[in-house]
Amino acid sequence: MKKVMITGGAGFIGVNLIRYILAEKPDWHIINFDMLTYAGNLASLASVEKNPNYTFVRGDVTDTDAVNRAMKDCWGVMHLAAESHVDRSIDDPGPFLNTNVIGTQKLLDAARGHKIEKFLQVSTDEVYGSLSKDDPPFTEDNHLDPNSPYSASKTSGDLLAKAYHATYGLPVVISRCSNNYGPYQFPEKLIPLLINNAKQDKPIPVYGDGMQVRDWIYVTDHCRGLVDIFEKGRTGEVYNLGGNSEMYNLDLIKLVLKEMKKSESLITFVKDRLGHDRRYAMDNSKITSELGWEPQFKFEDAIKMTVNWYLNNLDWVNQVISGDYLEYYKRQYVER
Ligand code: NAD
Ligand code: DAU
Repeated sequence: MKKVMITGGAGFIGVNLIRYILAEKPDWHIINFDMLTYAGNLASLASVEKNPNYTFVRGDVTDTDAVNRAMKDCWGVMHLAAESHVDRSIDDPGPFLNTNVIGTQKLLDAARGHKIEKFLQVSTDEVYGSLSKDDPPFTEDNHLDPNSPYSASKTSGDLLAKAYHATYGLPVVISRCSNNYGPYQFPEKLIPLLINNAKQDKPIPVYGDGMQVRDWIYVTDHCRGLVDIFEKGRTGEVYNLGGNSEMYNLDLIKLVLKEMKKSESLITFVKDRLGHDRRYAMDNSKITSELGWEPQFKFEDAIKMTVNWYLNNLDWVNQVISGDYLEYYKRQYVER
């Protein structure tokens, strides 16, 4: 058995990654190490919690002792735990620096001590900053130019990971991905918020002029790429992942409203996000040529699947919105 620690496994991407690995990698044992902040939801993993290849450990990545206990005998670490929402980082940067910078450093230190054979730092396109309309997509060689406290904290985590590779020879690899969408995403993020508000005929808040561009990727494509990079990526390297689906926010919102047969009159322009990045786009050529990865889901199909998932999983959506999911883990687990 290959024991792999996944941090942040109760969050949106972590839940999808754990489900993907348990289905595809029968010789892996997953240690899901997660503090269960507001963004962590064990109810999303209810169907796998009894899988013998899965163990949940509640813990904070900034807690050295807890991290060391969980990392014992692990082959590798996939580090996803983070404060992830840009708007929250603008309101209060402190928790972002604590988890995304200090937490990453604590994990890297523990990984050295445990002689971890692969450490995957899961990062974001936002570390590269913002593109103009006609700029080419980001490559791994772009300079780092983050604009929000969130992206600055992720950039710092990446730089620490890179430094631990250069200084101590820690076998680190870094992935940077564009905007994910799919099941189990917390409805503070644009796509689940949009679906949920539209379903209830509530206004859809559009920041600024709605002409910001994001490159959307279906979460399963990201998860498959993370496993490829973790297994086959060259240490010390960075790999970009994008969905080849650049879209204006306003066009995306109109497309989802059309799919849901809802009126565009729900669109409500609101004050812009401070420091709002105008455009992200990713160049996938390195991961495609080196590892053979490319996105498999087409946006027009996967967005329909996603809308249907949220409409067919109202219990999940309602327990998140009501906060009831926060009670779920208290019934299921005690802190270790
Ligand atoms: P999320 O906010 O949905 O989940 C984050 C998880 O981390 C939660 O389960 C939370 O409980 C846990 N966590 C937070 N602080 C912790 C701490 N101190 N100790 C232990 N666990 C803690 O985030 P997500 O969207 O699933 O993103 C996962 C990772 O992928 C992040 O590192 C993010 O930067 C990166 N990423 C996300 C996207 C995206 O579109 N969502 C795109 C590219 C990269
Ligand atoms: O690019 C990858 C990043 O994608 C990840 O690193 C982050 O963790 C993740 O949160 C996401 O960041 P964004 O800020 O791009 O995602 P968000 O869903 O918050 O917003 C998407 C776009 O939609 C952005 O331009 C802001 C806009 N927006 C968002 C919300 C929540 C609105 O116009 N209205 C909204 O209500």
